[in-house]
Amino acid sequence: MTIEAIKTGLSIRDISKSSDEVNASIDTSIESQSGVDDNMTIEATKTGLSICEVSKSFGEVKALINTSLEIKPGEFFTLLGPSGCGKTTLMRIIAGLELADTGTVLLSGKDISRLPANKRHVNTVFQSYALFPHLTVFENVAFGLRSRKVHKDEINQRVTEALTMVDLTGMADRLPQQMSGGQQQRVALSRALVNQPEVLLLDEPMSALDAKLRTQVQVELKRLHQRLGQTFILVTHDQDEALVVSDRIAVMNHGEIIQHGTPKEVYERPTCRFVAEFLGAANLISGIRAGNGVETEFGALQVVKEIPWQKGTLAIRPERVSIHDNQPEVNGVKARILDVIYLGSNVELLLDRGFRVRTDTHRLFTQGEEIWLSFPPERLVVLND
Ligand SMILES: Nc1ncnc2c1ncn2[C@@H]1O[C@H](COP(=O)(O)OP(=O)(O)OP(=O)(O)O)[C@@H](O)[C@H]1O
Ligand SMILES: [Mg+2]
Repeated sequence: MTIEAIKTGLSIRDISKSSDEVNASIDTSIESQSGVDDNMTIEATKTGLSICEVSKSFGEVKALINTSLEIKPGEFFTLLGPSGCGKTTLMRIIAGLELADTGTVLLSGKDISRLPANKRHVNTVFQSYALFPHLTVFENVAFGLRSRKVHKDEINQRVTEALTMVDLTGMADRLPQQMSGGQQQRVALSRALVNQPEVLLLDEPMSALDAKLRTQVQVELKRLHQRLGQTFILVTHDQDEALVVSDRIAVMNHGEIIQHGTPKEVYERPTCRFVAEFLGAANLISGIRAGNGVETEFGALQVVKEIPWQKGTLAIRPERVSIHDNQPEVNGVKARILDVIYLGSNVELLLDRGFRVRTDTHRLFTQGEEIWLSFPPERLVVLND
């Protein structure tokens, strides 16, 4: 499909009565949506992104410290981390809404670090989805195309396509206030998709939704990604969301990427305490290296991985601890049940030695009961710190 060139900048400040913050978000999102070269042909281009040693400070605050990352073409990549760790700063640098102090951003191998936002083939969906309240769903999605004087027939076709992608075809004539939060969020998504960006940036797009809707939109987003095959970069501080939707996850803290890998890798093989604890619950056991095992307050524990320290920490997920009626042969620990938390399909046991264990409900557990636990050596993760 051929897309017309954009000759004019856009500001919608004049026509919107929303708050300054919302205006700014619309400005930047429309701005970054408008960047398409003359007669450029875009057909679900699969674009990779390289972030090379990017740093950014705001006064004393080091928002990003020497950050490097490779995002593969067509990948669903997630930046996960606590509030203030630099996720939005990194997204804004990718979108061209913020300039890095040092380092480069490459899109398909081309240095775009100094390109203005409207010249990058990148679109952003922000947390505040900022729809125009007085425009219909159709016109909200068409807004950027109309401003760029795209032909009427092409607008009709592309907006209809973009609304179909998010299952909103029947709602084109509604106003935003006649829709649920999740539906409005999908309009915002569709407004970004209509521009057929090579890379779609999603900065906490689901944080305004309630838990149930959030799960639904997550699944829809993942399906959409599979169908379109474009590169999606999502920002979230919700570890479950990251595990559900992503091909790969980068875990950030204090302006640095601590670990990246597939959801399974970062969940099952955290490299440090922070990742182990940020991605779900973890039992942490400190100890001292003793040959190929670790001496701990629970006795000697066998591990299968190499131990890079003299004194350090092992981790095991609550669902990886196994429960026995008799003393197990390897890595057995006796513990008393302090509390049994019923979770529907699972139960969580809180034990007197500070352990948490998650198991299915096939057996009845009672408070005060003593049970044997074992930490299977292949499930014990040797952390680096
Ligand atoms: N324009 C700015 N001026 C000053 N400090 C800023 C600015 N933007 C971000 N910061 C600071 O940089 C750090 C990283 O901010 P950023 O918005 O990237 O965090 P985040 O990971 O997106 O957090 P959240 O999950 O809360 O959105 C924070 O300490 C923040 O206060
Ligand atoms: Mg943020």
